[in-house]
Amino acid sequence: MKSLVLEPDIVDAARRRSAVERLRAINVTLPTWSELADPASAEAMPDLHGVDPDQPLAENLWRVHWFNDAARRGQVAMPGHVVLGKDLTGVKAPIVVLLGRRYPMIGAHKVLAAYACLVPRLVTGQFDPARDRAVWPSTGNYCRGGVAISRILGCRGVAVLPAGMSRERFDWLAQWVADPADIIRTPGTESNVKEIYDKCAELRRDPQNVILNQFSEFANYLIHYHCTGKAFDRVFAHLSASRPEARLAAFVSATGSAGTIAAGDYLKRRRGSRTVAVEAVECPTMLDNGYGEHNIQGIGDKHIPLIHNVMNTDLVVGVSDHATDALNQLFGSNAGRGYLTGRRKLDAAIVSAFDDIGISGLCNIIAAIKTAKHLDYGRDDVVMTVATDSADLYRSERQSYLARRYPDGFDEVSAGEIFSRHLEGVVDDHVLELTHRDRKRIFNLGYYTWVEQQGVAIEDFDRRRDQRFWQSLADSIPVWDRMISEFNAEVGTAAPKRRAV
Ligand SMILES: Cc1ncc(COP(=O)(O)O)c(C=O)c1O
Repeated sequence: MKSLVLEPDIVDAARRRSAVERLRAINVTLPTWSELADPASAEAMPDLHGVDPDQPLAENLWRVHWFNDAARRGQVAMPGHVVLGKDLTGVKAPIVVLLGRRYPMIGAHKVLAAYACLVPRLVTGQFDPARDRAVWPSTGNYCRGGVAISRILGCRGVAVLPAGMSRERFDWLAQWVADPADIIRTPGTESNVKEIYDKCAELRRDPQNVILNQFSEFANYLIHYHCTGKAFDRVFAHLSASRPEARLAAFVSATGSAGTIAAGDYLKRRRGSRTVAVEAVECPTMLDNGYGEHNIQGIGDKHIPLIHNVMNTDLVVGVSDHATDALNQLFGSNAGRGYLTGRRKLDAAIVSAFDDIGISGLCNIIAAIKTAKHLDYGRDDVVMTVATDSADLYRSERQSYLARRYPDGFDEVSAGEIFSRHLEGVVDDHVLELTHRDRKRIFNLGYYTWVEQQGVAIEDFDRRRDQRFWQSLADSIPVWDRMISEFNAEVGTAAPKRRAV
């Protein structure tokens, strides 16, 4: 039986010592969870001037947070975000989108999850970068983050992802892996997560392969609770400073591994917001115990991640990939932009901000609109959501969409059709306000993956129904911070110079 949570205890002192020596040799200091949550307070922050954010450099670990500027080089007080108004969304509630693109190396906040899943193993002696291979099962961004972190630590990183993911993901991986054999393509597309698990089970037979499964590593929950939750809270506090009557009504997040949605637990505790989980209508696992293929890359499905705090989720919203593919074309094409700024008179800066919003971000925006419509939110009800990655990763998807849907060309009339249908025409279909019974149904669905397939003990599986389980995880953050600091002290790297701000 696999134990549920990685405890903050040293498991293998010899392996840990070897990890310490490796990090000393390559001069790496690990940021703690709390330093990443509030990098301005990080005493050990190195000088990042002149450090390329897209190279596998140890200093870039200190950019694995929400506070990078638009150029991804400097640090800012407020996480990058865009506020969408009624002219674009059709709802009075402001929709605030945080931008994962500002993260280093992969241009997506999944590198934060990757870092968080590896570090507990390092500091407890369960991963030795000098010997072990880190295996990163994912639908694309997490494994890129994992490969980037592996490169920095000088170890082998193996990406396991479905063959049908966007070409841009594979192009990036080809540049970053040590050996092309470290990119493992599993059958299928976005929702074929089971096939990824099967491959990992095979790889696990080799003891040098350490599987860092984001769908079941509670560090993924914890880092988003602590870092992503606080980043959203910071932006909300900033926005509400000039609008004291504003309240944080809802946090909306499409669930892949269900790491990001942990920020909803933090925000609910602090601000009383509702937490909205989003999935593809074409693969309605939470809505209908359903299955199917879809193209909202990054949000997987056909299973309920072990780290999803289902019993604290308030709504499930389904979004169609017809809508997200179409909006990817609308915001990414000259004809679309011309229509939005010309005919619709939308602010050009807002329209170009969509460069920073990939397909799952578009999905989150549609889900936020549906939520606001369903719950009759007004102008004081702020809805927050996230763009995990940018439109840059989906150029090839635009080409295939055009070939499929507009083989004779895409013009402003086509753009108008998309705007009317997929923005103006959004209604609150595929929205489920969860009753206790709905939550139990979704929770119970996880049994088949985790207990039957993956060997989690039934008592462990059931522990997660109780909110005290999740609270105790959050309470362990200072302990992990301390363990990371102690590990750094043993590595004994000279504390890098404080960055000039
Ligand atoms: C583009 C994209 N969107 C959304 C998600 C879902 O985020 P999470 O895994 O934190 O639920 C992912 C996860 O990999 C992703 O890559």
